[in-house]
Amino acid sequence: MAGVTLGAGSVLAAWSSNPSPLWFATRGAGVMTLVCLTVVVILGITTSLRVTGPRSPRFVIAALHRNFALFTIVLLVVHIATSVLDPFAGIKPIDAVVPFAGAYRTFWLGLGVLASEVLFAVTVTSLLRGRIGPRAWRLIHWISYASWPLAVVHGLGTGSDSQEPWMLGLTAACMAAVLVSLAQRLVAGRIRTVPVRLASGVVVVMATYAICAWSVAGPLRPGWAVTAGTPASILTSKPSRPPLRSAAHGFSDGLIGTVTKTAGGVDIGLRDTVDTALTVVIIPPGPTETLPQLTVARNSTTICANVPARVGVSVYAVCNGTRLVITMYGSGPSITGRLVTSGPMG
Ligand code: HEM
Repeated sequence: MAGVTLGAGSVLAAWSSNPSPLWFATRGAGVMTLVCLTVVVILGITTSLRVTGPRSPRFVIAALHRNFALFTIVLLVVHIATSVLDPFAGIKPIDAVVPFAGAYRTFWLGLGVLASEVLFAVTVTSLLRGRIGPRAWRLIHWISYASWPLAVVHGLGTGSDSQEPWMLGLTAACMAAVLVSLAQRLVAGRIRTVPVRLASGVVVVMATYAICAWSVAGPLRPGWAVTAGTPASILTSKPSRPPLRSAAHGFSDGLIGTVTKTAGGVDIGLRDTVDTALTVVIIPPGPTETLPQLTVARNSTTICANVPARVGVSVYAVCNGTRLVITMYGSGPSITGRLVTSGPMG
């Protein structure tokens, strides 16, 4: 393994139980809620810009904004209800109401709770607008802008699909759309509001940078499931594991991957170039281990997790009875390699 040494660092965790359809509904509704919330934010900004056209008078945009917001609330209720009803993550009703109370990915789930509370507050005050007066309503509506970044960070931090290219692309598209809309909002306005708009622009740029930098250092790295606070019971329960490959004999496939430096060594993530759903992650030994740990997964479903790997010229490990020899070339960050298996295809 030329140029690659392993030390202490983060730990990879992979889904190990079998989630129910409700769990997938939670994730699907979460994604839809984020997309719709993005549309609501953009329509809200467009309304405040007083953009009008022959086919889109202001009241039409305002009505669209209102109706989309109500639809988003319905989706959000589905998202929350399914996550509580599904036993997989053990989310209790109180966890969906009190921020940072849940055991499942506490902080990142808590941000989602905060985001939804802001949204519910905005909805209620909008329905009571006549009673609370326009000034209070406007103030609360301004705060509603905060719900969107909270929801984005919640989705990235707690979502099981955060590392999937489609989810990353969708989140990036949502961010880009809101940024373009915000830029239009901040450019337009009276001369006396320039300082406020400039300050807001700086905050937006810094927040965008912070979210991107944190995503790269956190949710996009192997082992985020553990770092994010997934309860050990979910990580360690025994799954029904798929075979390494439905073939009688061993195989020899090319690999491509990356080496990521960590505090105490490196994490290595590899993908099979023939069977592209197959991934191998090698992480440094934890405080109680002496050898690096190897995890093999297909489409994010674990085949074998955290098996000890001996490191010499190549990496040797046994995954459910199948012997693996992984040879890597290059010193990173991009590397290539070869996976050779022998023995039963467990
Ligand atoms: C504005 C509010 C919210 C938005 C826009 C939102 C959006 C999202 C998104 C985009 C995901 C990622 C889905 C994926 O990766 O497939 C997600 C995951 C999730 N959210 Fe929310 N969410 C919100 C509030 C909440 C609240 C209040 C709860 C509390 C129960 C919650 C519970 C969850 C759970 C349990 C997951 C799945 C975590 C996983 O995949 O491991 N969300 N949410």
